Amino acid sequence: MYSEKVLEHFKNPRNVGELEDADSEGTVGNPVCGDMMTMYIKVKDDRIEDIKFKTFGCGAAIATSSMTTELAKGKTLDEALKISRKDVAEALDGLPPVKMHCSNLAADALHEAIKSYKEKTKNE
Ligand code: FES
Repeated sequence: MYSEKVLEHFKNPRNVGELEDADSEGTVGNPVCGDMMTMYIKVKDDRIEDIKFKTFGCGAAIATSSMTTELAKGKTLDEALKISRKDVAEALDGLPPVKMHCSNLAADALHEAIKSYKEKTKNE
């Protein structure tokens, strides 16, 4: 069964949508189920100033994305790169084993967005 935290984030997901003035975005697909996720980030002084997500995924994907945005907001890019799939699942008090793969999307999309931002700005 899902933890209270997973259900709460699923019912009231934080930071849903698209950031129109995003500095970077990362999109990943889940090879296990085919679901998709995009994370948008706005960066200021090397920190994630704002972050939003859009997902075509299951309830666990929505809850993990919501939690990932909360964990990442305000962190430096390097700190946010260290947020792992496991950190996200733990912050939600765990996920049912069959749903663990759903937590991959959010952390991976966040990392993609940060890597692409670093790539874009490395010569500035
Ligand atoms: Fe696809 Fe959960 S079943 S992300």
